Amino acid sequence: MAGTDKMERRSARLLREMFLSYFEEHGCRRYMSFPLVPDDPTLMFTVAGMVPFKPYFLGLRAPEVTRATTAQKCIRTNDIENVGRTARHHTFFEMLGNFSFGDYFKKEIIPWAWTFLTERVGLDPDRLYATIYLDDDEAHDMWRSLVGLPEERVYRLGEDDNFWAAGPTGPCGPCSEIIYDQGPEFSCGSPDCGVGCSCDRYLEIWNLVFMQFSRDEEGKLTPLPKKNIDTGMGLERLSSVVQRVKGDFETDLFKPLIDRACRMADIRYGDSKKGDLSVRVISDHLRASAFMIADGVLPSNDGPGYVLRRLIRRSVRYGRLIGVDRAFLTELLPVVSEIMSDPYNELIEHRSAIEQIIALEEERFGRTLEQGMAILDDELVKVRHASGANLSGEVAFLLYDTFGFPLELTEEIASESGLQVTRDEFDREMDRQKERARASSKQAGAVMSKNVYTELADTLGATRFDAYETVAESAEVLAIIKEDSPVDVLSEGEEALVALSRTPFYAERGGQVGDTGTLSGRGVRFDVIDTLYPSGGLIVHKGRLAEGSLKVGMTVEAVIDVARRDAIRRHHTATHLLHEALCRILGPHVRQAGSLVTPEFLRFDYNHFTALAPEQIAEVERLVYAQVLADMPVTTSVMSYVEARKLGVKALFEEKYGDVVRVLDIPGFSTELCGGTHVLATGQIGLVKITKEEGIGSGVRRIFASCGESALAAFQESSFILRALCETMEVDAESLVPRAGALIEGNRELERKNQELVLAGMIESARETVNKAIRVDGLLLVAEKFKGASRDILRKIGDRIKQIEPDSIVLLAGIEDDGVSLIGMASEEAVRRGVHAGNLVREISAMMGGSGGGKPAMGQGGSKDSSRMAEILASAGDIVNAQLKK
Ligand code: SER
Repeated sequence: MAGTDKMERRSARLLREMFLSYFEEHGCRRYMSFPLVPDDPTLMFTVAGMVPFKPYFLGLRAPEVTRATTAQKCIRTNDIENVGRTARHHTFFEMLGNFSFGDYFKKEIIPWAWTFLTERVGLDPDRLYATIYLDDDEAHDMWRSLVGLPEERVYRLGEDDNFWAAGPTGPCGPCSEIIYDQGPEFSCGSPDCGVGCSCDRYLEIWNLVFMQFSRDEEGKLTPLPKKNIDTGMGLERLSSVVQRVKGDFETDLFKPLIDRACRMADIRYGDSKKGDLSVRVISDHLRASAFMIADGVLPSNDGPGYVLRRLIRRSVRYGRLIGVDRAFLTELLPVVSEIMSDPYNELIEHRSAIEQIIALEEERFGRTLEQGMAILDDELVKVRHASGANLSGEVAFLLYDTFGFPLELTEEIASESGLQVTRDEFDREMDRQKERARASSKQAGAVMSKNVYTELADTLGATRFDAYETVAESAEVLAIIKEDSPVDVLSEGEEALVALSRTPFYAERGGQVGDTGTLSGRGVRFDVIDTLYPSGGLIVHKGRLAEGSLKVGMTVEAVIDVARRDAIRRHHTATHLLHEALCRILGPHVRQAGSLVTPEFLRFDYNHFTALAPEQIAEVERLVYAQVLADMPVTTSVMSYVEARKLGVKALFEEKYGDVVRVLDIPGFSTELCGGTHVLATGQIGLVKITKEEGIGSGVRRIFASCGESALAAFQESSFILRALCETMEVDAESLVPRAGALIEGNRELERKNQELVLAGMIESARETVNKAIRVDGLLLVAEKFKGASRDILRKIGDRIKQIEPDSIVLLAGIEDDGVSLIGMASEEAVRRGVHAGNLVREISAMMGGSGGGKPAMGQGGSKDSSRMAEILASAGDIVNAQLKK
């Protein structure tokens, strides 16, 4: 093992570069890392270097080159609980990869990989082993003859170790791994420790996959059109070997971050298990979070956003475990950036978004963490005493729903006490909540019955779609659907959906509403109120037959409402300008989350974490409008999806695109995949005005804007309102705001004065009230009602009466819109003689259908019902009389 000492301790940055340039020497094109969230519906994250190249392996798309190499940012979350507990588990890691799409294969990659490790990196050849798939004699022979590895250092392992697949389905194949022996001091000490042992001694450093098959849903393997190579080597692991440290967290990819976290918590790395675990978790998760946000992920309750949320919240909790009680994550971010921003410039480019999003998420969770932990700790103690029990799923759901604890975090904390969460209960609670949400948002009216349209789409195929080229053309009526059934003839006044042989109508898609217009023939006119795709490429025109009778087979002139389409086009192109402007002003994390394009307005939903300030709105408007004034040509071109991605065209994550896509280009400003209809030059859009900005859910904002005529209409309307306001207030526009403020202030003052006057009036009437009072057994009883008097006012009137007539019994009722309030007061003398004001109020309230009570000297009550008031108050004398007699 002498060679080890000759190996230079290279930095991770250098190793990355050495790898990429080595494979460039072998004809591989170097690509920048692809984003962490792939354009692949089967995967939430890029889990390996090969993911972005899947279509090439599967033969779905022709690659532009046959050899490629990358250092790919990856996320794997299946082992999240192990992160920090071992020296090598990560969520975010970098995979050094090289790929052959039907080009080089085993006999090239085996010696290339060997040469890189031994000659370039300088690993001791005597410490290297290879594993191969059970019956892969070919690989075996190559390791022996091309590399000269001795027989005893080539191991045959089974499917678990040496057959690789990116997921349950898709490209896969046997593989061969290169193992590096770190030496006996790294061994777990088991007598069986050897190649294949999962301890740290025999490290798998590089996986060479001979990608030859595709696996379908039933598990069947079909040979791929060509034989491919996919290799992957973890940069963290390679660095730990080359830098001769005890694990990935001690390499230069992590060490500065670990040190900084330790300083922050005032602990020393290596002193305690808990401390080490915490700073490792924080370092790993923070790196992952920063990269996820730089690639456009925002915290949310599902998908990649949920993983991000879990990572941030998990880090916050680990911070608390080592005594950091304040928000701390953003303090560590500059260290992540220092280590990784070369070559990952996105960390610099999106620094502000990364900081803000992490700070916000940390702050949100920080607010509820303590309370949630208190509940969880209590529950854990309770459950532990009732031995054998699990942590209730209901509690886990409460923590999730109210305190923001990701379920997995609760599970993890419970498992630290040896308990499990009852998942069924949690799921049941979750289902209930979803059911409630569904019930409250249920849309009325069924969607069109599916079958008839699916059948029609099968028999008629896709409708020829001419909306890009023309606004009017002749077409044959192919089918008429009335009340979900095909008919041959439609009579005047009837409603139906009509399929044509071709159409200039744009059918609703990609957020753009369907066209309207007419289908007419001799003596026939069908008014189209909407155009839709009910199934596949079939287009139907929805509307009503205004004249004549419409028959299948007839030729009609299909003409769209051109003015309406023009208004739609303006709004659609403006949507693209707005999207780009938001990205430029707020940052490239802005992603379209939905849109609606109509003739009157556009609505654009996008991912962003805070509301736009008025100045930001104005800035977006100015940037958009500058493009309108520049009157740039708007062009479309059709190209392969791969080509489009290469040009950096914006595409939507969740959208599935065909192999051929349409790209809308506004030169120098925006390129985006789009199937909609657009203006020919931006000048045609006219004025663009944002009319509203609001939040519609966690991390999603919504903007409404109007263009062209509707922008003018909106502007005119505000001018009218403004003018009317100025006239009413008799000031000019500039003085409007101060004038309105002064009016409101003046009004408040008047209201206050009025209240005082009302009160004074009522107090004044107290004297009259006293005059009307009756005597019960020599005691003066004042029972009176007051309209519009609150309990407070009643009390003031009562006090006044007592000033005038200290030795009295007072019962006052105030009648307001929402019912009656009552107060009762009795003088010392009255109380001495047996009067009980509380009981008096109770009885009177009960007679009104309400309730009340209190002490002998003072009581209060009330009722919703103020009818029979006079009659009831009149019985106060009898009640007092009865009290005196007792
Ligand atoms: N795709 C293989 C892996 O992830 C080799 O890159 O191990």
